[in-house]
Amino acid sequence: MKHFICRAFGKYTVKAPTNIALIKYWGKSNEDINLPLNSSISLTVDIEQFFTQTTIELNDEKNQLILNNEPAEITGRISRVINMLKSLTKPENLEKKIKIESCNNFPTAAGMASSASGLAALTFGLAKAYKVNISMEELSGIARLGSGSASRSFFGGIVEWSAGDSHEKSIARQLYENSHWDELRLLVILTDLEKKKISSTNAMKLNRKMLLERANERVPIRIENLKKALEAKDFENLAKITMEESDDLHYVIEAANVKYLNAKSEEIKKLIHGFNSQGIRAAYTFDAGPNPFILTRKQDINDLVSHLLISLKLRSHNDLKLHGQLPNDPFLFLQS
Ligand code: DP6
Repeated sequence: MKHFICRAFGKYTVKAPTNIALIKYWGKSNEDINLPLNSSISLTVDIEQFFTQTTIELNDEKNQLILNNEPAEITGRISRVINMLKSLTKPENLEKKIKIESCNNFPTAAGMASSASGLAALTFGLAKAYKVNISMEELSGIARLGSGSASRSFFGGIVEWSAGDSHEKSIARQLYENSHWDELRLLVILTDLEKKKISSTNAMKLNRKMLLERANERVPIRIENLKKALEAKDFENLAKITMEESDDLHYVIEAANVKYLNAKSEEIKKLIHGFNSQGIRAAYTFDAGPNPFILTRKQDINDLVSHLLISLKLRSHNDLKLHGQLPNDPFLFLQS
């Protein structure tokens, strides 16, 4: 992990990447500390593509949060992270007020995992400001208290968050560095930048019976098979499992009368199946939003992009966000 720390007059600025789950976290066994019903597996995306940048300043004024240039409320999830880090800092820091300024370089709350990068950056920045020197694993656990998916943004490459049944056991860790499978590519199509009407936090409280069935019966088998596909670099199975999992998530969500996918999302699903008709070369996955994340390999990216541009009648690549290799090193400190 390469870090350089720049501190200017007590301000710390950090950047954290988002991550996209191939096996999704959906449902909690403990809402107070965000213990998930099932383990999940994600890819950390290129920090230069989608990230949150957060500046933390300890001062004598008042606690303040500025989110995407607008004043915002310090919610319970943010307070949980602040309080946990306060319990680990030196007493002299406790008298200070906190100013948090945070910006996403991508749409917030549009199903693009902004809470993952947001809470990861907040946790990391606060730990630096409070001079709390703990491991990445411990920081990831604190970020989980703010938002479950944030725990996975502390590591690069392919990451597993094991559900666990306590704060100490619910931990994320890197399964593979990017170099394990450096042909993998991730493409994002922005179909809708609107803020979602119902948050993941609220939607995952609905339809408990179906959530439990999914978490206990279907997800464990998929995790096992996905790990085998990752180990063997078996793209066909990776793709099949990824799409099956995304469809399963949205089947459960829609059974609770919530819909995140739109007509464009459905069209893109069909286009990917069409592209795969001669052999599986791409896979879609959707989080709690309509924007598809598409996995493919380096050798197929040009064909895939042409297929999408022609089929969606898009004129340029500007409407498609193309990710390069996924980084190993998710955090970068910036000078303020
Ligand atoms: C669909 O991490 O946003 O993106 O823990 O309540 O903050 P909270 O939920 P959050 O849920 C993410 C759900 C998901 C799947 C995933 O990222 O695994």
